[in-house]
This record gives sequence, structure tokens and C-alpha cells, in this order.
Amino acid sequence: MESNTFEKFVDRFGAKLIDDDLRKKLMVISKGEALHPFIESGLFYCHRDLNIIVDKYLDGKKFYLYTGRGPSSERMHLGHLIPFQMTAYLQRLFDVQVVIQITNDEKFLTRDITLEEADRYAASNIEDIKKCGFIPEKTFIFTDTEYIGSLYRNILKLERKINLNQIMHVFGKTVDNNIGDVRFPITQMAPCFSDSFPHLFSDPNMYCLVVAAIDQDPYFRLIRDVAAKLKHRRPALIYSKYLPSLMGPDNEKMSSSVGGTAIFLGDTPNQVKKKIGKAFSGGQVGVEKQRELGANIDVDVAYQYLNIFHPDRKFVEEVGEKYSSGKLLTGEVKGYAAELVNSILGSFRE
Ligand code: TYM
Repeated sequence: MESNTFEKFVDRFGAKLIDDDLRKKLMVISKGEALHPFIESGLFYCHRDLNIIVDKYLDGKKFYLYTGRGPSSERMHLGHLIPFQMTAYLQRLFDVQVVIQITNDEKFLTRDITLEEADRYAASNIEDIKKCGFIPEKTFIFTDTEYIGSLYRNILKLERKINLNQIMHVFGKTVDNNIGDVRFPITQMAPCFSDSFPHLFSDPNMYCLVVAAIDQDPYFRLIRDVAAKLKHRRPALIYSKYLPSLMGPDNEKMSSSVGGTAIFLGDTPNQVKKKIGKAFSGGQVGVEKQRELGANIDVDVAYQYLNIFHPDRKFVEEVGEKYSSGKLLTGEVKGYAAELVNSILGSFRE
């Protein structure tokens, strides 16, 4: 994926960059504690109305967090962890309720899998999601097939305001897509309204903050267009870039379906070491050349993983400086990255 894709997204779709002003306000809420490396590294980089959520929160108004997963396979990959770890961090920072939608219906409708397989993947993904650090008593995880009844009233209201043309245009659907696939997007929008969760929220029109990577924006752009017509608040969003594929920046995001691009949560320490060992490098070929010219850390996958996940920002800065000036070699940086990724995956292997 071209590195300017993310800037283009902001320009084209009118999201806002997370700027210093917003970061300062988040620091007020964290009581001066450093923000999560996902924010510090610029991985979570843009938003819609997050400033409103933060200002209201500072005025004493609560909101809830919403995120989700489409269970397309048994094991999630490292990229899929990101929105869940971020949501858990935000939940603890603001002390708020989280809702997590598992779209087993979406994957049944769009992949060649049975409903039973989708259920099995959902159950296994939920086990992984639960390990991401949420406050259990403030976290509600549901599958669509089980919870659909409670979403249905909002689904109907949204369906009446959104026409086929909009869905086809925004999601690139055609008349050949099956009917369920075409109407599914509404199901992902409904949890943005707090009255979809009467057992959790007494306020039917509470603020909602959605956490995702930018690929999920079409759902939320569309509901933001129609929310006012339904006398609902528009959801706010915080978006990340994609965790780079092991194959480097010219490849798409880390993906389960493209072989060699992903680290899976169940990978053994040795597999992780091997995969990162083969990952795209910004270092020079040969020790001498690396010592002389240094690495291009902007495209180096191992360095990027350190930058995104490492909690010690000083360490990351030092590695970046030494690697780009040739004092560190590719193998050493890959070693740090493999160690870090293995420590993150530790609890998911149990
Ligand atoms: P899914 O299962 O494709 O992806 C789950 C979440 O992971 C994000 N993601 C990534 N983040 C960083 N780097 C990557 N390489 C990467 N790949 C995927 C996705 O943006 C997503 O946040 N339809 C959705 C499920 C869903 C949902 C939601 C997601 C239902 N409600 C509300 C976000 C918010 C899906 O299939 O996600």
C-alpha cells in the first residue's frame, strides 16, 4: 500500500488528523502519562469528531466505545489485534462501556463458508478478543445472529433512510451481489445508536466512539449522513492506518488471505522469528554497505513493528537513529522486533 494512501484518505473523505491540540487534551485525561504507542507512533492518525467526544467528556458527559470483527477465519492476525488493543486502552483511559460486534452474518454472506463455520470462527475470535485487556464487566461482545433482535428496530429505521443506490455507490456493490451482502452494511451501522443496547444504556442517544482502521469508514460515513434525520447523534470515529504487511509498504495491509503477509496469533515463537527474518527490509545488502549508508527505516517492516508496538519511545528513537545511520544491522533490528512480537503473542498462544 502506498504510504500516501492514508493522507489521501483524509483529504478525500474529510477526516481530521489527530493534532497536537487533541493530543494535549488526551494527555490531560491520562493525567500526563504518555499516550499509547499506537497514538505516539502515528498509527492511529485521524478521526471524525473525536474532539467533540473529548470536550464533552471533560465536561462530565459519558460515551461508549464500539468496535467489531468479521470472523472470516479461526485465527486473527496481528493487524486485527490493533483496534481491540486500542479500544481496551481507551476503555481504561475513559472508564467507559465497550460494545463489540461479531459479524458472523457478514462472513456467511460474503465468503464461501457455512453458518456453522462462521459460528466456530466467531467463538474462537471472541476468545482472542477477550485477551486484549478489556474491563470484563464493562465489555459486551455479541454475534449478529444472536443479538439481531435488539438491533432490528434501528436497522429498519436506517433501511428506510438509505437507498440501494447509496449502498451500491459507497460499498461498490452491484446487482449481482446477493441480497444479504447488499443490506448487511446497515447491520454494522445499528450499534452506533445507544438504544440498540437498552440493557446497557439508559440514555437512548448517547455519544458513541467507533475504533477501526480506515477500511471501515464507508459504514460510518453513511450513518453519519443519515443520523440527524433519525434524531440520533452522529458516531465519532478514531481510525488507524494498516499494520504493514510482512512484504513491505508496496503490498496491501497485512491480510489473512494473502500468503506470506501476516503473523497469526497462534504462530509459534520460531515461526514469528522466521517470518520477521524474511520480512521486507530497508537495510542495505551486506554489512559494509549498511555500515556506510544505513537503512531506510520508513519502509523497514521490523522497524515499523517496533515503532508501532514498543512502549519505550526512547528505545524506538535510538534504534531508528542507529539503524538509519548504519550503526545497527538489519539482523539486530529484526531480532528486537521478533522478541517484541513474541511477547505480545504470548498470552494468545495459551
Ligand atoms: P475485520 O474482521 O476485517 O477487521 C477487524 C478490525 O481490524 C481492522 N484491521 C486492521 N487494522 C490494522 N491493520 C490491519 N492490517 C488491519 N486489518 C484489519 C479493521 O479495520 C477492523 O477494525 N465488518 C468488520 C467488522 C465490524 C467492525 C464494526 C469493525 C463490525 N462492526 C465496527 C470496526 C468497527 C470486519 O469485517 O472487520
